[in-house]
Amino acid sequence: MNLIDGKALAAEMRVQLREQAERFYEERGRRVGLAVVLVGEDPASQVYVRNKIKACEETGIQSFAYRLPADTQEEELIALLDKLVASEDIHGILVQLPLPKHLDERKILSRIPAAKDVDGFCAQNVGNLAMNRETIVACTPYGVMKMLEKYGIDPKGKTAVVLGRSNIVGKPMAMLLLNADATVTVCHSKTKNLKEVCASADILVVAIGRAKFVTADMVKEGAVVIDVGMDRDENGKLCGDVDFDRVKEKASYITPVPGGVGPMTITMLMYNTVLAASRSK
Ligand code: GUN
Repeated sequence: MNLIDGKALAAEMRVQLREQAERFYEERGRRVGLAVVLVGEDPASQVYVRNKIKACEETGIQSFAYRLPADTQEEELIALLDKLVASEDIHGILVQLPLPKHLDERKILSRIPAAKDVDGFCAQNVGNLAMNRETIVACTPYGVMKMLEKYGIDPKGKTAVVLGRSNIVGKPMAMLLLNADATVTVCHSKTKNLKEVCASADILVVAIGRAKFVTADMVKEGAVVIDVGMDRDENGKLCGDVDFDRVKEKASYITPVPGGVGPMTITMLMYNTVLAASRSK
């Protein structure tokens, strides 16, 4: 078994991103800029936003943080976003999800143009990904592709199974693997013969949010196993969607939790922001 070290790759990429951000500044006389908008006090979101701002500092990206009260009205938030969209100092805009219930997520996110949508969530970016055209790719699945590449794992011709069909992870993951010439199956809660389908995978990507759901009998000998989960086990300890201790005996490559996919996600946000800046006029 080989461990896929997401933490090490993330650190390596952040050094490169810092160089790119510095080069951008030298060439354009303006810093790469990312705006992060948080509405309300959701504790998990506060941690994510803090980590994103920290990653900006580490990579030489100028961050613009907006922390708005939970009762912020739609018009106010839209006015802020319109201002950020118009700013030449801001190359990427991220609205931390989930939004408070009284705000229409779809309407809010639609104010961010594709070129500044560094989460890769908007319909135009998702559509371009589906058509294998130039786009901005959602951070978590893009990070998975970077990990596969780093470890010399080429999806071409391989059987890939994605467990989970969310807009943020499962669907874009499936499209990326398909664009990389894998034969792709997407599984979800209604899938029949789930165990057999998973056990057919050369590359198994798991993103269902259930602690240790994938057991050794669901994994083929020699498979590559990517665990996107961030769960708590029966003792409250952080774990993934994969029963790591047993599955690692069968896998050729496996990502740990923590230290696998997690550190790559925020790094890819920095990557997308530098990319958006480099594409800006
Ligand atoms: N909330 C949980 N994950 C994400 C993410 O990747 N992007 C944003 N904007 N909000 C999130």
